[in-house]
Amino acid sequence: MNAPLASLYPAHLATLRARADQALALGGFDHLLVAASTPLGKFLDDQDYPFVVNPHFKHWLPLTDAPGSWIAYTPGSKPKLVFVQPRDYWHVVPEAPHGYWVEHFDIVTVRSAAEAAAQLPQGRSAVLAPACPAIDGVTVNNPQAVLDYLHWHRSYKTPYELALMREANRIGARAHRAAEAAFHAGRSEFGIHMMYLAAARQIDVELPYASIVGLNEHGAVLHYTHFDRTPPAEHRSFLIDAGASCAGYASDITRTHAAAGHGEFQALVASMDAAQQGYASQVRAGQSYPELHLHAHRVLAGVLREHGFIRMSAESAVESGVTSAFFPHGLGHPIGLQVHDVAGFQQSERGGSIPRPAGHPYLRMTRVLEPGMVVTIEPGLYFIDMLLAELREKPAAADIDWAKVDAFRKYGGIRIEDDVVCTEGEPENLTRDAFAQA
Ligand code: GLY
Ligand code: MN
Ligand code: MN
Repeated sequence: MNAPLASLYPAHLATLRARADQALALGGFDHLLVAASTPLGKFLDDQDYPFVVNPHFKHWLPLTDAPGSWIAYTPGSKPKLVFVQPRDYWHVVPEAPHGYWVEHFDIVTVRSAAEAAAQLPQGRSAVLAPACPAIDGVTVNNPQAVLDYLHWHRSYKTPYELALMREANRIGARAHRAAEAAFHAGRSEFGIHMMYLAAARQIDVELPYASIVGLNEHGAVLHYTHFDRTPPAEHRSFLIDAGASCAGYASDITRTHAAAGHGEFQALVASMDAAQQGYASQVRAGQSYPELHLHAHRVLAGVLREHGFIRMSAESAVESGVTSAFFPHGLGHPIGLQVHDVAGFQQSERGGSIPRPAGHPYLRMTRVLEPGMVVTIEPGLYFIDMLLAELREKPAAADIDWAKVDAFRKYGGIRIEDDVVCTEGEPENLTRDAFAQA
């Protein structure tokens, strides 16, 4: 059970203030200015792209729809929110600030982004914003030393952030259940997606990423975001990678389902699910994430052998690149304010980068896990034509049962993805907990 956000927020804000104090001291700045940012305009058009708030802004307060607004923080003073509420009868203007967080800010309401700039303190400022012409009169500098420090510490979620991520997972789990029912009812990818959105009560642009809803062979396209409007002749398998947002925090959830009568595929899904839960249980302080990724390759080799796809030893399947043909992405990534959160490779609060293990170019996390980090655990097993064609040309091809592999192409692939918190003890699996409550 979560404590109310109102009781968790003051400590969150105190943590952010302390981090900002350190970051500003490191960079030699007097103020931190964080722009919500403004929407990008479409070329030669009077329309904008959907507004996406600066993640640094929504770290401080739960406002995701405040274009043109700013947070100004000076160490030792209450943070200031310069809130833009335009005089506009064409659009819904952002609602006046309300809720558990407003008492912690000095709030000044202005009518335009230009007026907002005039409310910002003068002096040596670290200005965190996209370099965007619509931010007039303020020089954006995004100092690297400040970003490095803030990004590093953003890896350690506060209890307030974890409460929001639990809720993002609950919304996602509820919507996944609706999508699963739509699959079993024979709906199209588009129809399933609509059911997902309705159950999440979020529209596409509010989701943390474009949902992947793939039936049958489409599960083999890692980022399949096409949404066929008509149902296929037969529903065999369903891979859905879809998350939800809560006050700017993301969930990132994947499930793979087999239709009735496809027991062989269901058995493979069950093996992958057991393996996935094994990795999730190793999200513990001191665990190297890249080691966990390499471990997942060895376990996958065992699954491939057990199900009769390969005849070689697990070690040689990993060494010869066979497992990489079936599992060609990373085990997961940090998650939080962004679905692929910052600092997955960072060496220290001073920056630097920890390289990926050789031969694993898509891994997005090379750090050692520590309490407070939240990562996804998302192993996959796919039947991807392009990669299988390459594999057929390798010496290891002789030890692969190609008839068996070919028989599974019609299922596309399997991915199972949870969001898991590293704690001082047992991991907290936000996604499994959410499904248990959904
Ligand atoms: N949905 C994007 C990912 O799983 O990383
Ligand atoms: Mn993911
Ligand atoms: Mn995902």
